[in-house]
Amino acid sequence: MINKVKGTYDVLPSESYKWHFIERKFQEVMSLYHFKEIRTPNMEHFEVFHRDSEMSDMVQKETYDFLDRSNRKLTLRPEVTAGIVRAYIENKLYVAEPLTKVYYFGPNYRYERPQTGRYREFYQCGVEAIGIKSAVLDAEIIKVAYDFINHLNLKQVSVNINTLGDLESRNNYRAALIAYLTPFYDDLSSDSKRRLKENPLRILDSKDKGDLEIIKNAPLIINHLSTDSKKYFDEVLKHLDNANVKYQVNEKLVRGLDYYSHTVFEIEANIKGFGAQNVLGGGGRYDALVKELGGPAHEGIGFAFGVERLLYALEMEELLPKDDNDLDVFVIHFDKKTLEKAFTVAQTLRKYNITSSLNYEIKSFKSQLKESLRKNASYLIFIGEEELKNNLVTLKDTKTEQQVIITLEEAINLIKKGLLK
Ligand code: HAM
Repeated sequence: MINKVKGTYDVLPSESYKWHFIERKFQEVMSLYHFKEIRTPNMEHFEVFHRDSEMSDMVQKETYDFLDRSNRKLTLRPEVTAGIVRAYIENKLYVAEPLTKVYYFGPNYRYERPQTGRYREFYQCGVEAIGIKSAVLDAEIIKVAYDFINHLNLKQVSVNINTLGDLESRNNYRAALIAYLTPFYDDLSSDSKRRLKENPLRILDSKDKGDLEIIKNAPLIINHLSTDSKKYFDEVLKHLDNANVKYQVNEKLVRGLDYYSHTVFEIEANIKGFGAQNVLGGGGRYDALVKELGGPAHEGIGFAFGVERLLYALEMEELLPKDDNDLDVFVIHFDKKTLEKAFTVAQTLRKYNITSSLNYEIKSFKSQLKESLRKNASYLIFIGEEELKNNLVTLKDTKTEQQVIITLEEAINLIKKGLLK
């Protein structure tokens, strides 16, 4: 037996309705905000993700990079944003509209250590708004994420916001952080030691106990913001207040990827027993990514949720609906001839938008009944020798147990009107 690849999972037929549910909920919010779906490839050229400025562990150490059979260097996307920016530039989306508002739902690949809520193939649903910079737009994007969470009815969730300021602010802050952390170098975890040189901001994200003690008194970016950056952040918060979004400013919030500037945010589950991977989604503004990938100096903002984590949160808060794709009619037959007839009856029913199924072998009456129970059929149609001879069917309502012998046409009418129910 060949097993699934480590860190991947199967969505079995009994589970897929949950995925449809979440995708539908997401699309409903997207359509209210007039975002259009974009579908970009799951593989991109290596350079889309491996950019000079991207020093994150995720891109440096966790991507699935490979050579195809013609020796092209490709990467399975670890996230969608960079691929969308590539598509934005390649298709010159900015010519038609000053602001491109898109959403997506699809798989990503990261070679991480699998655990609850962390996979090597996982799905994200997210949005990107590329083309302009506006504090109102930042608030709108956070509001979209907030509305989606509310649309799912999730309650034990919090929104954390921070700003990373502009490049000047970040450089100032970086210097202050390095100056503060350097005397503690020997006490830092090995990961943080490495990050001190490459990406000191990420140390703020450390979960290591010793690091946390050191970070406690670290300088905060908020005190190193340029006047413009501070003003921009205040404006975003004002618009969020106007939009009635409940949030907390978390001055230590930094994101995993390096392309962010100004507004960053994360949505976290505070559900008891949820586990360490409790960040349901996150995002922020990126001001240099479009240019870096060869496009005009346009800015963007977006977010992505992890779909598996959302599903887990919905399960824990008991918010998932029941599978509602029950069967209308199960057609029961008795031998080769009645099976042939049952096959055509099922097809006729479907023409009238009545979901129907049957067993495709000649099986005992009892086993067909059992199957109809498993499938939760509302009606049974029996095609026996008598029915076949008289061109009639027996229709039975499985709830009321009422049963009539009628023509198929009459049966369709009754089912449509739900009369036997
Ligand atoms: P990210 O924070 O790397 O951001 O991922 C977004 C979400 O994807 C996370 O909050 C988490 O729920 C989920 N996620 C990440 N890695 C895994 C994993 N290994 N297993 C399961 N779920 C995972 C981004 O990807 C950015 N592209 C978001 C963004 C869009 N920023 C601007 N626009």
